[in-house]
Amino acid sequence: MIVGVLVESHPDERRVALVPTVVPALQKHGAEAVIERGAGARAGFADATYEAQGAGIAMDRGEVFASSDVLLRVRAFTADEPDLASLREGQVLVGLLNPLGAPAVIQTLAERGVDAFALELLPRITRAQSMDALTSMATIAGYKAVLLAASTVTKMYPLMMTAAGTITPARVLVVGAGVAGLQAIATARRLGAVVQAYDVRPAAREQVESLGARFVALDLETDSAEDAGGYAQVMDDEFYRRQRELMTSLVEESDIVITTAAVPGSPAPVLIMEDAVHAMRPGSVIVDLAAETGGNCELTRPGETVSMNGVTVAGPTELAATVPFDASQMYARNVTSFLGSLLDDGAVRLDLEDEILRDTLLTHRGTVVHPRVRDLLGLAPLESAGRREE
Ligand code: NAI
Repeated sequence: MIVGVLVESHPDERRVALVPTVVPALQKHGAEAVIERGAGARAGFADATYEAQGAGIAMDRGEVFASSDVLLRVRAFTADEPDLASLREGQVLVGLLNPLGAPAVIQTLAERGVDAFALELLPRITRAQSMDALTSMATIAGYKAVLLAASTVTKMYPLMMTAAGTITPARVLVVGAGVAGLQAIATARRLGAVVQAYDVRPAAREQVESLGARFVALDLETDSAEDAGGYAQVMDDEFYRRQRELMTSLVEESDIVITTAAVPGSPAPVLIMEDAVHAMRPGSVIVDLAAETGGNCELTRPGETVSMNGVTVAGPTELAATVPFDASQMYARNVTSFLGSLLDDGAVRLDLEDEILRDTLLTHRGTVVHPRVRDLLGLAPLESAGRREE
């Protein structure tokens, strides 16, 4: 059983799917790791360090494709990626495959005959927590967003009493207090900012306050804002219109706004319009972590930084990749824990009674099997028996 790791193909991707320290854990599952030469280099992990932990180094990318039973990726495939043609029938693929954001590639994975698993679709159950790569990456993104804002905003974060007078602390507003938002709050607080935050899920109040931030109460009806799984639900246009209205003065008085509001599988709600950006003080910053799904700010351009009236609006899409050493360690532990459910004594055991494997499996035997992805692709639902078959 060979678990292969490739150099990530996206030019800006510095993370790697396995780090040397997890190689022995894979061996316990009966698997050998084969790493493409240089795969860990941009994250700070040398080939020799992998070898010292018992991994093999492949000099050639084709060798990794040819020899691996299981291939690990960090980032999703793009539709035109040459690597797609190298995947072979029966191969298992695990990664953050973005099935709800870019479902068309998942169809190609099915045609290649691979069994593809998307870590984004892990059920939020206790047993899956150690596998939750989305949470790991959101933690890093929340942290880094605050630093990104710090290097752009024209103010300092902490209160400073100096001989040249008192410098007031920066005012930070965090919109969306999920994993990334809470980490942004914690980081901004550590730097000394005065932080306030809002989330549609009433349960977020306690977490926001426990980090020393003020929870902003908006006069909105949020009884239906959370589903049974603890995720936010899509609200109607009137709700978002009212939310924008109620948030206008909060945005205006903030030096830094970090937005993370997201609804899984849907475009991000637009919560800050151009006129609200206009009203901000020149030199202030918005970091929109929802950029990948369209953005919470009307001016956000995914992957770009724009400026209007002296206000900077940044829409970073892969912030975790900018902290590749720790991001790779967290991702590698998540993915190794996932493989613990999939590998049994050196063989792949596709037990679709297991909620974790069933929920994350995208393609099997040439077919897209995940119901939500099928729906996005306009494919008819499969008989449930078909999804169970191995
Ligand atoms: P996310 O990344 O999907 O969304 C970010 C946040 O945006 C959420 O808190 C959501 O409520 C909020 N939001 C959506 N629409 C909004 C709006 N109009 N205005 C303001 N905020 C809005 O969220 P994430 O980080 O995945 O967390 C969602 C929930 O899942 C939380 O309760 C979190 O604690 C929980 N969670 C559970 C895990 C587990 O059990 N394994 C792992 C990670 C998170």
